Amino acid sequence: MSNYHIKNLEEYFQVYRKSVREPENFWEEVAEEHFTWRKKWDNVLSWDFDKPEVKWFENAKLNITENCIDRFLFNRADNTAIIWEPNDPKEEAQHISYGELHKKVNKFANVLKSQGIEKGDRVCIYLPMIPELAYAMLACARIGAIHSVVFAGFSSKALASRTNDADCKMVITSDGSFRGNKTIDLKGIVDKAMTECPDVETVLVAKRTGADVNMQERDKWLEPLLEEASDECAAETMDAEDPLFILYTSGSTGKPKGMVHTTAGYMVYTAYSFKNVFQYKEDDVYWCTADIGWITGHSYILYGPLANGATTVMFEGVPSYPDAGRFWEVVDKHKVNQFYTAPTAIRALAKKNVELVEKHDLSSLKVLGSVGEPINEEAWHWYNDNVGRNKSPIVDTWWQTETGGIMISPIPYVTPVIPTYATLPFPGIQPAIMDENGNELMDKQVDGRLCIKFPWPSIARTVWRDHKRYKDTYFSTYKNMYFTGDGALRDEVGYYRITGRVDDVIIVSGHNLGTAPIEDAINEHPAVAESAIVGFPHEVKGNALYAYVILKEAGESRNQDNLRKEIHQQISEKVGPIAKPEKIQFVSGLPKTRSGKIMRRILRKIASKQTEDLGDTSTLLNPEIVDEIMKDAL
Ligand code: PRX
Repeated sequence: MSNYHIKNLEEYFQVYRKSVREPENFWEEVAEEHFTWRKKWDNVLSWDFDKPEVKWFENAKLNITENCIDRFLFNRADNTAIIWEPNDPKEEAQHISYGELHKKVNKFANVLKSQGIEKGDRVCIYLPMIPELAYAMLACARIGAIHSVVFAGFSSKALASRTNDADCKMVITSDGSFRGNKTIDLKGIVDKAMTECPDVETVLVAKRTGADVNMQERDKWLEPLLEEASDECAAETMDAEDPLFILYTSGSTGKPKGMVHTTAGYMVYTAYSFKNVFQYKEDDVYWCTADIGWITGHSYILYGPLANGATTVMFEGVPSYPDAGRFWEVVDKHKVNQFYTAPTAIRALAKKNVELVEKHDLSSLKVLGSVGEPINEEAWHWYNDNVGRNKSPIVDTWWQTETGGIMISPIPYVTPVIPTYATLPFPGIQPAIMDENGNELMDKQVDGRLCIKFPWPSIARTVWRDHKRYKDTYFSTYKNMYFTGDGALRDEVGYYRITGRVDDVIIVSGHNLGTAPIEDAINEHPAVAESAIVGFPHEVKGNALYAYVILKEAGESRNQDNLRKEIHQQISEKVGPIAKPEKIQFVSGLPKTRSGKIMRRILRKIASKQTEDLGDTSTLLNPEIVDEIMKDAL
């Protein structure tokens, strides 16, 4: 029996059992049967969660772009690899075949080389959702450069700090980007960032909006270079454990962590999980609405689908433009079979007139997916009734930037689904629910913290140049376990339900935001003495941010609304507009423990208007502040 494609529940259990009992054999078979290797591995797996160190397919040699492109040239060169749907529906969509993709990526790879990029160099990619983004990533992979994609909604400061952290030699951007009816001056943001990035040698600029941009000495237009470049570029031989990319994710403290993913394990796991989680069949059209700037886009717009020879849609726009029916229009237009989106988008669209959904033919849909945060029951039913029309199973997929691929998820038409449950672990994934004292809760029905006991091929291998942080964050809370930072419960049939973060990461509209960097941005305002950020439930965003701010001078004479605007501005510049708090309350103090730690639990309760049971506040250093904050709560 091939392990690669699971078709019924019995097969799932068989495959799962095998993946746990003989993980090396299991993954070896998958790797052997479905990928192209220049040299096979000497050893399937070695691992030590204490160091921590994980190596899959040791000493194997390959190039991921040969697996995602070249091997399909023989009999599928004319099949569409990428359907690019532009922001403006009046602009024509592009169908990029595997044959064309090969040429585009090779040309781009030759441009990178001509600009001095070599194997192991880091290249920062700050591009909107245009085909050049996919070409740029694959071109890096072709020549062994490590891409570090920064979501093009991030601010210049965030871009600069990520570019410097990874020591990028090059930044790839565009003259601008289109988002709905807005045009964004991406190049201007890059220019600002580059004033803080002395080590960047070249900025490649793709043309998208045609806006006038200020080309400086290190800036080069991409198109003329592409025109001159050859469309043949031999793929570099890469080691299984060579880094493929760095992708930054927020931590609960400090600066963002550059998660490092390596080549072979990431490829095998994303391809395998894509095939099964979406039950992708040849000639299906698959669409994930995420931005490639997030892990979801890396794994399930680009690498996972392409490694299966699939057709993947890449959408430049936003769900609300030109109207809130755009997603459904695109599903209808390209006859999408699998549709993968985030609960925040579903909640926003569910608020609109249902006619916007009903007027489109959605009969092509076979599988619906959800990712990024817990999907609430109401949103689940709306999605199921109106989009799936009760015939397309919803896969609620739980995973993380760090895990590289989907970890807990139903397999559609295989696993019976229950709203809000991510259901069963994927083959190779061994979850554990832990209590706060480090004990694994072995009963079926338990509630605790979610850990993973055994390595899987696409686990991130380190934090870029900060292995200690990798160890401290993921492997120090529980011995010999990868700690996810999430809470979860397991029910009597063994289904998992994710209950949310148990650390200071807040998920707003599906984006992970660490509280510390936002507080730092607020505290840099000259009038601010201290601040604390917490999350509170929000109808559309899932969570929104609530900021408690202490001003340096209690009687700060400036108008509070102006101060709020300035704080918003400060956060937009330092972190990005997604991190702007919904509410800012000025307070004269923050509830603190005697050791000086802010009691966020109390602040969270006040922000969520759950003040009936604040717990014992008498041990606080300043219990009187709680009443004051409650009285003025927004
Ligand atoms: O809290 C979990 C939540 O998103 C976190 C990971 O965020 P990020 O690294 O940005 O990756 C998002 C896309 C994979 C997790 O720790 N999360 C993700 N998917 C789900 C989820 N929470 C509940 N249900 C999910 N399906």
